[in-house]
Amino acid sequence: MTLQGKSVRFSFRFANFTVVSTQDKGRFRPLAKGAQQATVRDKKLQERLRAGGEIPRHIAIIMDGNGRWAKKRGMPRIAGHSEGVESVRDIVSACGELGVRYLTLYAFSTENWKRPKEEVSLLMRLLMKALRDETDRLHSNNVRLRVIGDFAKLPQEVQNELLEDIQKTKGNTGLSLVLALSYSGRWDIASAARRIAQEVAEHRLAPEDITDATVAGFLSTEGISDPDLLIRTSGEFRISNFLLWQLAYSEIHITRKFWPDFRRDDLYEAIADYQGRERRFGMVSDQLASTREPEGYVRRFIKSVTGP
Ligand code: FPP
Repeated sequence: MTLQGKSVRFSFRFANFTVVSTQDKGRFRPLAKGAQQATVRDKKLQERLRAGGEIPRHIAIIMDGNGRWAKKRGMPRIAGHSEGVESVRDIVSACGELGVRYLTLYAFSTENWKRPKEEVSLLMRLLMKALRDETDRLHSNNVRLRVIGDFAKLPQEVQNELLEDIQKTKGNTGLSLVLALSYSGRWDIASAARRIAQEVAEHRLAPEDITDATVAGFLSTEGISDPDLLIRTSGEFRISNFLLWQLAYSEIHITRKFWPDFRRDDLYEAIADYQGRERRFGMVSDQLASTREPEGYVRRFIKSVTGP
């Protein structure tokens, strides 16, 4: 089948189609396979990043632009979400290889429940499929899966799959992949406030003893350090009710790329941008000028390793 010049194959069990994007040059790429491995070039870039400064301990990402990515290609929105899973796979691998401790992905917000029923249902099924296909690989790569959000609102089968996958990977000591599902920052803070109020009402906590650390201890991210770097794709300058408390001091990197186009090179750019900001006060004026055009700075960084 052809959809506005793009090849479309019927194969998704749930959506009944698989869209082959122009990036695939017409070749079919199964959803569960084809994860990018670190190449020699990747390893060089990763070494340069490690040598260039601190690798953020916690990266949080607002994965935006799936719908627009699909629309631009005349495809259904779910095709953008599906290609977005490929980006998730690549970014999770790259973060694990780089030694990032926490990667938090805004996969489904509280507000996303207001989307058309069909899109919500397809997103849930896509999530289920990704979890089923990927958990073994995550596990063998020492990745621990965690979830933050209003878990009980998720469909029962998604809850069951997540519980199984969380249990399976709970002893892993590498990257923690934190999926924000049915999550919003206000929900998180309101839930913490309710629990703190309960503690006070039951005389286990005195109001005057409530500190920042107390609040942090009641948030869904308890025990997880705050994000050092927030990445948002698709060029929007908003936090969109993501980790409102936890992002207080995070560096923010915005890229115009849509999420399905965001791959490990873009992650390296974001990290190089982050490292540049950390070093801002030690820089000479030329370097300071380059931090005002992060794309120029990071592109030069990548070229310095790989050549033009
Ligand atoms: C935002 O794009 C993206 C989402 C609401 C969902 C993100 C979900 C995935 C990438 C797939 C499942 C995730 C995992 C972790 C396996 P949008 O639809 O708001 O795009 P638009 O702004 O262009 O409409």
